[in-house]
Amino acid sequence: MKSSPLTQLDAADGFVEIQLGEAMLVGRSRIERRLSDLRGSFHDDAAYEAALQRGDPLIYAVSSVEPASGEGQMHYGLGVLYPGKIGREYYLTKGHYHARRSAAEVYVGLQGEGQMLLEDEASGASRMVPLHKHAVVYVPGFTAHRTVNTGGEPLVYLGIYPADAGHDYGSIASKNFRMVILERDGAPAMEERFNNA
Ligand SMILES: [Fe+2]
Repeated sequence: MKSSPLTQLDAADGFVEIQLGEAMLVGRSRIERRLSDLRGSFHDDAAYEAALQRGDPLIYAVSSVEPASGEGQMHYGLGVLYPGKIGREYYLTKGHYHARRSAAEVYVGLQGEGQMLLEDEASGASRMVPLHKHAVVYVPGFTAHRTVNTGGEPLVYLGIYPADAGHDYGSIASKNFRMVILERDGAPAMEERFNNA
């Protein structure tokens, strides 16, 4: 039989189950990010340092499936973001651009209550989009994206993206997002970062 993309595909990459309770993909390892890994991500430095004095909790974890690389291929990852706040700001992921800026991504919410913070690179235009069970969010290219858990249970979601998208964390690390998502009167609200000292 001739070799084909289908027969070359590792069976373990062609079928994967989600263990929702564990927020894992069966048989996959997770990359974990703790509070100490998120220095500079939250707007309230004093609240961040005070929280770190009390402990270094797991904030989020991602397990990825990368079956093949190259043009036309797809990768995906299961993310779990735990609930909590630093000051008034909800627990968040670092956020990133794609190294290949034109690459888009689809997020599918599986559990929990959250928001995605999106920011257009050229204009800085920002948008807060709900992410929860059964929600599907389209992140266009040239857009920084971050996930925020605004609820009381782990927020679990899939992100599906072109295999050659790549991740650029450095641009966010150096200037962060223009907007923050804070609790205001018991609900999530998007505000300018520098109005929230
Ligand atoms: Fe992404």
